[in-house]
Amino acid sequence: MRSIVLGRGRLLSATVVVMSLAVTAAMSLVFHRTVRIDMLVTGFVCAVVVDVVITRITKHYREKLAQLHADLGRRVHERTAELQRTRDELIARDRMVTAGMLAAGVSHEIRSPLTVVRMGVDELRELVDGAEEAELLRDVNDAAERITAIVNDLSSLAKPADDPVGPIDLDGVIATAARLASYRFGPTVTLVRTTDGALQVLGNASRLVQVFLNLLVNAARATRPDAPNTITVSAEARADRVVVAITDTGTGMSLETQARLFQPFFTTGGTTGGTGLGLVICRSLVERMGGSIDVTSDLGAGTTFAVSLPCAG
Ligand SMILES: Nc1ncnc2c1ncn2[C@@H]1O[C@H](COP(=O)(O)OP(=O)(O)OP(=O)(O)O)[C@@H](O)[C@H]1O
Ligand SMILES: [Mg+2]
Repeated sequence: MRSIVLGRGRLLSATVVVMSLAVTAAMSLVFHRTVRIDMLVTGFVCAVVVDVVITRITKHYREKLAQLHADLGRRVHERTAELQRTRDELIARDRMVTAGMLAAGVSHEIRSPLTVVRMGVDELRELVDGAEEAELLRDVNDAAERITAIVNDLSSLAKPADDPVGPIDLDGVIATAARLASYRFGPTVTLVRTTDGALQVLGNASRLVQVFLNLLVNAARATRPDAPNTITVSAEARADRVVVAITDTGTGMSLETQARLFQPFFTTGGTTGGTGLGLVICRSLVERMGGSIDVTSDLGAGTTFAVSLPCAG
């Protein structure tokens, strides 16, 4: 359909004008036996009015259609992202179950040498009498117990266990985790703790030690040997939660690494003996205590893992 442009940029349909003028001329001929200019002008004005109305209605519905289209696009996008997330979660859970089955299979083999280690520690305890040696043996024993707990955790990824949950003194838990992790800190690492001793969370003490130990060891692994590094552990109450943030000034992570952090067996720590299960276990344990873990990281600048737990009381 051809159209002509009016002064204000509106398009006037040539067909509407031609038809209107033709009808007006025909009516003028029928009623007055001549083509009257005033009737033609009236016909033209009617055509303009009709065109303006049609243009407005069309514009209104075109805008509505565009909005509906945009809404639909957004919804499709959201749904696709949701499906993708669900799919990723299913794959991750499937891998966790596989990991759990594997661990269940080898746990017996691991427990046997562990029993030897613990018996050895017990016997050594009777032979040494220095306070420093006694503390070292206690740490070895703690570490052996932790290995047992980790093997059990892996098995429980396939079949979650019910750990008793109660009010826990956060400062004590963090102090234990920091002491156990300190063996992994190189000479360039300084640990800063800004926890408030009065904070209590609802959780399981041994599991929380395990979570913070994992996060501290990860932070220690990310530190640079040729520069001073600070690992900060801070805790603060936020409404009915307590958030423990473990921040390092290490290598940080690329977006690709961040996207894969919680995938079982994802590790960049090949040379340091990482298995890529630490964070999977941490998240599973924290979620079972009613908490969550958030990560923020800047490549080249450092990383923060924020563990949010329910406040006790
Ligand atoms: N603080 C951190 N800074 C930089 N990268 C990190 C940090 N924490 C975790 N990562 C990255 O996430 C990966 C997965 O961590 P995760 O704890 O699950 O496994 P891992 O430490 O490699 O092995 P595992 O804990 O089983 O011994 C790490 O290999 C590392 O690439
Ligand atoms: Mg780890």
